Amino acid sequence: MMYPTDENITIDQLVLDPYPIYRRLRAESPVVSVPAVGRILITKAADTQKIKMNPELFSSDDPNTPMERAFGAKTLMRRDGEDHMRLRQAMMPSMSPGQVKRVWSEQIESVATEYIDRLPKGRKIDFFTEFAGPFSARCVAIVLGIPSASDADIQRWSQVLIDGAGNFGGIPELFEKTDDANREMDECIAHSIKTRDSTFEFSALGIQTSAADPIEYEHIVSNIKIAIGGGINEPRDSIMTTLFGLLTNLDQRDAIIEKPELFGQAFEESVRWVAPIQVSSRRVTDNTQIRGFDIPKGKVVMTIQASANHDEDVYEDGHKFNIFRKNKRHQAFGNGPHFCMGTHLSRRMIADIALPMLFDRFPNMELPDPSEVKWRGFGFRGPINLPLVLN
Ligand code: HEM
Repeated sequence: MMYPTDENITIDQLVLDPYPIYRRLRAESPVVSVPAVGRILITKAADTQKIKMNPELFSSDDPNTPMERAFGAKTLMRRDGEDHMRLRQAMMPSMSPGQVKRVWSEQIESVATEYIDRLPKGRKIDFFTEFAGPFSARCVAIVLGIPSASDADIQRWSQVLIDGAGNFGGIPELFEKTDDANREMDECIAHSIKTRDSTFEFSALGIQTSAADPIEYEHIVSNIKIAIGGGINEPRDSIMTTLFGLLTNLDQRDAIIEKPELFGQAFEESVRWVAPIQVSSRRVTDNTQIRGFDIPKGKVVMTIQASANHDEDVYEDGHKFNIFRKNKRHQAFGNGPHFCMGTHLSRRMIADIALPMLFDRFPNMELPDPSEVKWRGFGFRGPINLPLVLN
């Protein structure tokens, strides 16, 4: 059976608010080709999970994305099997739960303290620019081993890489920007290896460069770049989403102030509710079927984890933020061999350190007008502003 095509869905609609579209697709056509995206969209939780757990049939090596051009490299996210594992395992020990606890907790705590200390009380601030963005940038810079990069540089590089990796139209200026950012990142990485700050040996760069049998230098560099491109937005967006959820559901906020151990649940619920990385692409390596629809070899399917996380078969009222929901499993960190490397780090940064510190310091913080908050994004999604008054 041939899968249906939906000519009406536009990228603009998806960027503005994809959730009503996904709800309709889950009900009417959970396997659908969307020409505006150039992919077959897969919106049901059971299907997105199955696809990601079967890398032989659904390869991460999609040669038709601008990612390779943007990064100047074929990164680990576009590799499969042994080839992928070798690059992944080279960097992963720097972000293991043990390493996060032993080495990075203290570092993250001092960044959080310093960045919270400088937040003004009693007047409206944009939490995005005043805290969420710089805090994510600083923590990730330290863990990667490139602390000489400024918060502004890290955030700019990250955005430029994301824009370049999504530059399906091949706009030359976007690739000029990635070329410039790649040059700056290359210099910063080389400088960090020479200067070795106090935690360098534990960092992603330190662990990879001093391994007994290190991977090639170009792969070390592209591993660092993938963590810059894919490790800044997500903690930034998820801390804002958690705050939005709590400050628009005051019963949940009150419960959390009573019981700070609930911050973990609040963070997980926020990434389920609005997945910071909403979609992933996989290339089909052999003729197959999904829900009875024939998918020919070579087609690219897009797993929509944002939609999976709201699936009516799994969640009741999935569109609502509810830290007490019974089913807490979600797919926001992915599934299978490409499962997010920064999961423990993000939980520590946000659920264990930043949120408790923020509520301790500003127990009466307010979101005066939730309608001022703008949400954007199809590939990556989150609030693009968060006007808070801290008290
Ligand atoms: C709330 C925070 C985060 C979320 C929701 C998130 C989400 C994800 C998802 C969905 C994937 C899988 C993509 C796919 O299957 O194609 C992924 C992969 C990855 N993430 Fe995260 N991420 C977060 C934070 C971070 C941080 C802080 C870092 C590092 C500093 C990081 C590093 C990575 C890396 C290196 C990969 C690629 C792993 C591989 O291909 O083997 N992430 N992330």
